[in-house]
Amino acid sequence: MIRTDRVVVVGAGLAALYAALVLAPRPVLLISPDPLGQGASSAWAQGGVAAAMDLADNPALHAADTLRAGAGLVDPDVARRVTAEARDHILHLTTLGTPFDRDEAGGYVLSREAAHSLARVVRVKGDQAGAEIMRALVAAVRATLSVQVAEGWVATGLRLDEGRVTGVDLALASGSAAVAIAAPAVLIAGGGSGGLYAVTTNPPRIRGEVVGMAARAGAVIADAEFVQFHPTAIACGADPAPLATEALRGEGAHLVNAEGTRFMTALHPDAELAPRDIVARGVYAEVRAGRQPALDCRALGARIGAEFPAVAAACARAGINPASQSIPVAPAAHYHMGGIATNMEGRSSLPGLWACGEAASTGLHGANRLASNGLLEALVFARRAALSVGREGPSAAKVVLPSPPPAPLPDPALVARLRQAMTAGAGVLRDAEGLTNTLHTIAAIEAAQPDCPRLANMTATATLICGAALARRESRGAHCRTDFPDTLPLGHRSRMTLAEALTLRPAPQPELL
Ligand code: SIN
Repeated sequence: MIRTDRVVVVGAGLAALYAALVLAPRPVLLISPDPLGQGASSAWAQGGVAAAMDLADNPALHAADTLRAGAGLVDPDVARRVTAEARDHILHLTTLGTPFDRDEAGGYVLSREAAHSLARVVRVKGDQAGAEIMRALVAAVRATLSVQVAEGWVATGLRLDEGRVTGVDLALASGSAAVAIAAPAVLIAGGGSGGLYAVTTNPPRIRGEVVGMAARAGAVIADAEFVQFHPTAIACGADPAPLATEALRGEGAHLVNAEGTRFMTALHPDAELAPRDIVARGVYAEVRAGRQPALDCRALGARIGAEFPAVAAACARAGINPASQSIPVAPAAHYHMGGIATNMEGRSSLPGLWACGEAASTGLHGANRLASNGLLEALVFARRAALSVGREGPSAAKVVLPSPPPAPLPDPALVARLRQAMTAGAGVLRDAEGLTNTLHTIAAIEAAQPDCPRLANMTATATLICGAALARRESRGAHCRTDFPDTLPLGHRSRMTLAEALTLRPAPQPELL
C-alpha cells in the first residue's frame, strides 16, 4: 500500500484535466491510461460547447431546450445552474488558450445543432473543438507543478474502509497486477460506456470501466439505461466509427435513404434537426429496412474540407468524396447519460468519492442529452467537484509507482462478445427478451475470466445498463422498448446499485458463449 496526500483524479479527458487545474495548488495524482491528450473521448468531440453567448440567447432558453430534449427527466435546478455557469467557462477556456472561432467583430461563431432553438455551440475550426480544448488543457496541466500525471496506468478498483472510499487500485494499462494507493479523496473523471457496444464513436478504451469500478464498490448508479446513439456515424466498417458531426445538418446537410427519399421530414417537424434519439431511430429504421441511409452534404461543397477537417479526413480514409457523394451513416453508441449518481457538488453516494464528466450522472441530460451539453456539463461539474474536494491540503511528494508483475488483460474475444451482445440486445430498440438474453451472456462472459478486475468493471456497467433498461417498462428519450412503446405520464430518474441489478441477472451458463 502506497500512501499519499495527493487527491487521485481518475481519467485524463476534459473533466479530469479541468478538475486538476481547479484543485491547484493542492497536489493531485492524475491517472492517464495513454500519453496525456490521447485516447480520451473529449479530444474527439466535434461539435463544441453549448453556451448562451449570443445577445439573442440567454441561459433560460438554453435550459428550456435542455429540458425539452431530456424527455421529462432533466433536473430543472441542475439545468438552470449549468446553463447559467456556461458563459464563464467559455471565457475561462479562452484565457487558457482555446482558439474558438470568432467573427470579424470578435464575437464567438456559433453552430446550430439538433434540438437547440438557435445557434448556440461555440466551436473551433468547425469540428476541432474537442481537440483544441484538450490541447489547451494539456499544456496548462503540464505547466502546473501540483499535478503529477501517471501515464500508462489505469484504475481497476476502489479501496473501501467502513463504507468510505480510501484509495484506488492501479495497474499498468498494458496489463499488470494491482498497486494499492491510499489517498484522501478520489475523483472519478473517466469516460463513458460507448465502447461496450460493437458500433461506437468512442475511443477504444472507453468501455464503461470507471462506472463499473464505482458500482462494484457499492456506489449508486443513476439512469444507466439511457445510452445515446449518434445518428450519423460514418458507416465505413471502421472501429470506432468516425463521426459526421451534427453541425453538418445545422449547415443544411440532409439525410436520404438508398431510394433518395429524405425520410426525416415524415418523422418530425424539425426533420434532421429533431432531437438526437428521434433521428437515431429514423436512421436505424432505414438500416433495418435495407435502405442504406446517407448524409447528403453536397450543398456544402468545398466548405467541408475547410470547415469540417475531421469529417473530411474520415471520408478520405474511407474513400468517400463528400462534395460529390453522400456519406453512408448508421447509429453508433456515443454518450452515456447514465453514470455514477452525483449531487450538485459532484459527490457520489460513497463518502470519499466524487465524480464528474461522462462517468457521472448529474441529472442534466435526462433521457436524451442535448447536443454539445456533454463538454459543458464536464466543465461545470469538474469545477464544482474540485471545489467540493477542497483546494487546501498538505504538500505531497511525488508518488513513486513500482513495476508490478504482468497480469492478463481482458480477453479480447470476451470483450468482442460483450460488445456484440450489447448491440444486439440493449441497442437502439430493446425488449424484455433481448435484454434478458444479454444479461445471460454478460454473466457467462464474466464467469469465463473471473480474476480480471477490468473485465468485471465492464460487465458491471453492462449489467446495470441492461438491468435498468429491463426495469424501465416504458419508452422515453433514448430508451425505446418495442414491448412498452408508450411513455408513462410521470417520469422518474432511475437509481440502481450493482447488487440490485444482479438480482435481475441469471446465473452464468457457460454454454451460452
Ligand atoms: C456532434 O458533433 O454531432 C456531437 C456533439 C455531441 O455529441 O454533443
